[in-house]
Amino acid sequence: MRKNTLILISLAVLSFGLLGCPPKENGGNTTTAAGSGDILIGEYGSMTGAQATFGQSTHNGIMMAADEINAAGGINGRKIKVLSEDDQSKQEEAANAVTKLISQNNVLAILGEVASSASIAAAPICQSNKVPMITPSSTNDEVTRKGDYIFRICFTDSYQGEYQAVFADQWATANNKPKNVAMLTDVKSDYSQGLGKVFTAKFTALGGKIAGTQSYANGDSDFRSQLTAIKATNPSLLYVPGYYTDIGQIAIQARDLGITCPLLGGDGWESPKLIEIGGKALEGSFYTNHYFYADPAPVVANFVQKYKERYGQTPDALAALGYDDMKTLADAMKRASKLDGPSLRDAIAQTKGLTGVTGTITIGPERNAMGKKLVIEEIKNGQLTLAATIDPATGGKVEMNTGAAPAAAAPATATNK
Ligand code: PHE
Repeated sequence: MRKNTLILISLAVLSFGLLGCPPKENGGNTTTAAGSGDILIGEYGSMTGAQATFGQSTHNGIMMAADEINAAGGINGRKIKVLSEDDQSKQEEAANAVTKLISQNNVLAILGEVASSASIAAAPICQSNKVPMITPSSTNDEVTRKGDYIFRICFTDSYQGEYQAVFADQWATANNKPKNVAMLTDVKSDYSQGLGKVFTAKFTALGGKIAGTQSYANGDSDFRSQLTAIKATNPSLLYVPGYYTDIGQIAIQARDLGITCPLLGGDGWESPKLIEIGGKALEGSFYTNHYFYADPAPVVANFVQKYKERYGQTPDALAALGYDDMKTLADAMKRASKLDGPSLRDAIAQTKGLTGVTGTITIGPERNAMGKKLVIEEIKNGQLTLAATIDPATGGKVEMNTGAAPAAAAPATATNK
């Protein structure tokens, strides 16, 4: 009897679900200005897999921003609802995730990815469906060239790589070392390949030498043959523009083989797991980043405090960029003449002077954030410390952090298109 009742109830619920009303997630939603109900936003990221902290931190930042926006009245009275898809750190899954968000969930806009190769794989799908995509942190120059619906709120690799080379040059001079850098890049990553090219061009233009170039593939576990070849070139610095999981292993194996010089990397090193994996092998190494968590500026300090209260951990740059990404989208949704793809695209393109945790966000003609600040961090005593700052607003020079007052502002020369 009880069993039969249960079956009947289940059948009734099922048929009501199938025939009576639309699926709950999309229940009654439309994405027009005249519409009501939640505004659906898609997010795709590496919640699991080799770059899991990238996706998880970004998601935390996005959700914190979305909750703040909703608590403050949403977008002209409507709430934002974020639908998240895990691409497992795989490029092909990134494309599938975005296809699902667009064709099944009918999202208005998409936030993601972190890894440039994943963004490059998914961007054409957003473009052909006229769904704006804003990557928080993909830096490879190609990403925003995928079409006029594709934006980023971070700096590009032609900017990041150039400053890494300037830093390497200045560091060698200051430490009386030969301008001789060895390089190890990831053949599977557009990000790593792009940075390798930019760094080489700038460092050699400054009179430096690339002692030797070796490659690996993301997910490899043995880097010893490449590192043995690198050791023979006796470099002053080892440049490794890769992602944190590989970097930790590379650093450990480099030290085992007797390579003592600092490693230098890009934003892909950024993860709470980096030092956990690499430990002492990373002491004295440097990487470029989008923000420094201990920056005393109120906008950064407030964010860090609220994030710690909510998640019980210090936000990394991915969290800060995820937060800024959602805020940038919300700002554009409020300004858009209509909540459809083309109108929202136009509003995002007009983003100007928006205060973010990672700096002021102004979208330039090539859909990249212009004039973002860049920091260089050094791993000292197992902690991240600020080694240098590059601020286009004060001349775009590498200002080494000597602990003294910041140098006087010089006229702006650098741009970040
Ligand atoms: N910039 C990296 C890429 O494009 C992703 C990344 C950004 C990783 C910020 C860590 C921190 O692939």
